[in-house]
This record gives sequence, C-alpha cells and structure tokens, in this order.
Amino acid sequence: MRRGLTAYGDEEFSLFLRKAFIKAMGYSDDALERPIIGITNTFSGFNACHRTVPELIEAVKRGVMLAGGLPVEFPTITLHESFAYPTSMYLRNLMAIDTEEMIRAQPVDAVVLIGGCDKTVPALLMGAASANVPALMLVTGPMITGDHKGERLGACTDCRRFWARFRAGEIDEQEINAVNAKLAPSAGTCMVMGTASTMALVTEAMGMMLPGGACIPAVMSERLRNAEATGARAVALAKERLTPEKIMTPDAFENALTVLLAIGGSTNAIVHLAAMAGRLGIEVDLDAFDRMGRETPVLVDLKPTGQHYMEDLEKAGGLVTILRELKPLLRLKALTVTGKTLGENIAAAAPGWKQSVVRPFKDPIFKGGSIAVLRGNLAPGGAIIKQAAATPALMRHEGRAVVFTSLEDLAARIDDPQLDVNAGDILVLQNAGPRGAPGMPEAGYLPIPKKLAAKGVKDMVRISDARMSGTAFGAIVLHVTPESAIGGPLALVQNGDRIRLDVPGRSLELLVTEAELEARRRLWKKPRARKDDARGYRKLFLDTVTQADRGCDFDFLAAQSTIRIPRIR
Ligand code: FES
Repeated sequence: MRRGLTAYGDEEFSLFLRKAFIKAMGYSDDALERPIIGITNTFSGFNACHRTVPELIEAVKRGVMLAGGLPVEFPTITLHESFAYPTSMYLRNLMAIDTEEMIRAQPVDAVVLIGGCDKTVPALLMGAASANVPALMLVTGPMITGDHKGERLGACTDCRRFWARFRAGEIDEQEINAVNAKLAPSAGTCMVMGTASTMALVTEAMGMMLPGGACIPAVMSERLRNAEATGARAVALAKERLTPEKIMTPDAFENALTVLLAIGGSTNAIVHLAAMAGRLGIEVDLDAFDRMGRETPVLVDLKPTGQHYMEDLEKAGGLVTILRELKPLLRLKALTVTGKTLGENIAAAAPGWKQSVVRPFKDPIFKGGSIAVLRGNLAPGGAIIKQAAATPALMRHEGRAVVFTSLEDLAARIDDPQLDVNAGDILVLQNAGPRGAPGMPEAGYLPIPKKLAAKGVKDMVRISDARMSGTAFGAIVLHVTPESAIGGPLALVQNGDRIRLDVPGRSLELLVTEAELEARRRLWKKPRARKDDARGYRKLFLDTVTQADRGCDFDFLAAQSTIRIPRIR
C-alpha cells in the first residue's frame, strides 16, 4: 500500500487517504495486508482478440486469492490491428507508456499482463520492463480454425489468399462474403504464425510467461487453468521480487531471437524485440542476428510458410517441443518467471510424443536464415526479408523499379490498366516507414497489380520501408532503413531505375551512379506536413520515433545501450 504514494508532502497522510478510498471498494484490513497483484484489463468491444479477457481476469483473480494475494484489475489501452488508425504500430508506444505509468502509479507488488493481439504483448512488456515491477504475461491465446467448403481457414493468411483470388476474378462477391464470415471463427488471436503467435512464443521462450502458456487456444478450458496458475505464481513472484530486469536479460533475448528464427516467425517481432531490449539497455545487432539465422533451422510447419495452425502446435506439445530440438542453441541458464531456468523448465516438462508439426533439428523445413538481413546502397541501415516465405526464384533478381510515392498513390494507381508494369518489375513503395505513414503500416505486402494478378502472377519483388503482417508471404523486402520520409536512399528511387536483390549475398542495390544519387539528393524535398503533425501525440511520435532497427520506440524511452546481442554462441 505504501508503494508510489500520491505526493501531498506528508507520506502518512497520503497513506491514510489511500486507505480511506480503497476501503470504499469494500476491502478489509486483512485483504489490504496481502500482496497486491495488479491485472491489466485490456478488454475492448473493438478487440475480438481480447474477447475473453473478462473471464481470464476472473481466473487470474481466483489464482491470486488461492495463493493468498489480493487481485486488483485496472484498465490500460488496448489495440486491435483493424481498429487502430492510422496504424497499431503508431499506438504501440502509447500503450507502453500507459502500462508503465499505471504500474508505477499504483501500489502493485506484481502485475499480470493480459495481452494477445499483435501490439499488446510488446507494449505491455515494454512498459513492464521500464517499470521493473515483478510481472508475468498471460496471452488470450489463438483462435481455433474456421472452414470453407471443407477447407480449413485461418486469419489472416487465408484472408490475403482469398482476397487475392477475388482480385484475380477467381471467386465472386458472394463467395468472398461467405469466406469473410469464416476467417475469424472464435475469440482469440490470429491462429497462423503471425505476429500474435510469434510474440506469444518468444515471450514464453524469454521466460516471461508460465511454460505452456503460448499455444493454448483462447476458447479451451485449459486456457482458464493457465490463467489461474498465472495468478497464483504472481503472488510468489511478488514475494521473491523477481523483476523483469532479472528475467529479460541478454540471454533471454537471445533465446527469444533463436525461437523467432526457428518458428519462421513474423518479421514484426524483430522490431518489437529491439524495442523491448532497448528498454533494458540491450541492442539487437541486425548483422549478428543474420549470422544467428544461418545456423538456426526453421522447424515449425505452420502457415503462412507451412500447413498447420496454432491449435495443431498445441496438440504437438507447444513451445517445449520446439525448445527440446533447439537445446544446443539455447542459453539454458536463463532465469524464468517460474523461478527456475529455461533448462530446468524443459527438463520438468512431460516427454514428447510423435507428431508432425515440429520437425527434428536435423530434418528442418528450411535450413537456416528464415529472416535475412540485407545491406547495400538502398538500405545502408539494413532491410529484412522473410525468405522462408518467399518465392525461391526471386531471391536473386534484377528488375526495373515501378515506384509509388505514398500509400495514397499506391491505392490510386496499382489497379490502373494503364500502369506500366510487367511481372519481372520491382514494386517500390516510398513514405510508409515509421515517420512516413506515420506508424510504419503493414503495407509492405503491396498487392500484385490487378492486370498481372489476372494473368496468374502470384509473387513479385516488392520493396518498402513499411512492415508486413506476419500472416503474409512473398518476395517482400521490408523495414528499409533509413526510411524515405527522412531522406533515406529509398526516397531517391525513380521509375525505370534498375534494382538488384541478392538474398544469398545479403545485398540490396540501386543500380544508379553515386553522382546521380547525389544530384537527386540535392533536389529531394521532405514530404509536406499533414494535419495534426504539429500537435498532440502525433507530434511526440514524429519528433521522437526511432527507425525500425531500433524498434520504433521513442528515443527518450530506451535505456543507454550497454550490450549488443546476439553474441557468438
Ligand atoms: Fe489480433 Fe490478428 S488481429 S492477432
């Protein structure tokens, strides 16, 4: 109760007032003497991924009380991918600040963070890392799959697949509307290896979630038992003062990066892990991450790169089935919220069984480097590509640039029958980075121009400073740094320029002379300011957001960098 007292200049009076008001909630002195476990309420009528939060809160409360604590829920912002204008990434830092300050402002001895949808898990962990109060993550869990004409469907890989078929004229409006009602058939998060599934798995690997918590579907009773156990463990965590900085260590982040690579996870997770690590003075070195990727095989056969869904991974044993295979690559001494090390947690798990979702280390789906880091005169600060989800024939490709200067320009011209574009061209999108859009939208998956889609073109090289949904696939170069809105080389690309992509060689080159680029640079003009750029949260965002390689956090929220990861294993 004494934690974070309101400032009246008299601490005893502050405590006296606090007790008077909390008693209005009906608590007894006995209840108030227990460890207080805060629970973030991230429910919203706009967030179907968090539809089950109210019942999860009840289960967490039960666990807290069974362990002798006092549970107190409090609201934070929530974010759903489809209900976050202009983008959910734009609002992630706002949610992180909200979470950090609410944890700090209220007398919680530990906190259970309930997240699930893509940005909520990183935002909650960023806030908790900075507040440094004992914390555990509980995710809402993935949706179960839907079906259409006997075919299993999952959000949102199949959203994109069916939309592409509709654009190509392969299915009609009636059928696309029927599919629309089947893509998200239950509460919970997208059930392919998108950002939500990736963040759940890397959070468990990092040790910030109880073992087994990442994959349990949202609608299963086991999910509620997991919530109850999380509440009970939070009470012990409070007593042990096991704070995030003791768990979110360089070792833990390296385990998270290893798992990210092995699951063929979402490219967005790199941005989020960089931001979370940055809160603790840990810097993610993209080139070292690329080297790590070369020796980390992709083991998990889930959509969008494979065939299964999260409920199948749960039936295959969940994360521990992956961790067992990855043991030689993991930092097994990393401490977790159980109070035990990752290695001890793996040893304590039930033995594995025959399954087909997680491959053996020696027989991977993809040998290494599911995510590759590219450098070159087009991306001096780096760019990434999820090569495990791309057309192999396009991984070495030279083509003519077809440039779109903004999202609006893209929307206006991509389907224009007069658009001068061929299947071998490279589509370039400018001004869709952290400051450009703003908020780095998931626009990197540029649609195939309608006239090419109608001819059966399924993939093209596409380059932007935007992000891509983890549920998408294709030869898509993302996170080009520095972004075009601040004058990065991407801003200098013109229609007809030649671009060379060489993923095995890790390079991305604009084949234009340096003298010509210098001339273009002198003529380059900053994009015009938009309405509201000079006020409120948007001004704070535009003034302080970092580039993708630093996690798009606000520069004043990251801690001084003291260590670079991943280190040599
Ligand atoms: Fe929430 Fe996909 S929209 S996880």
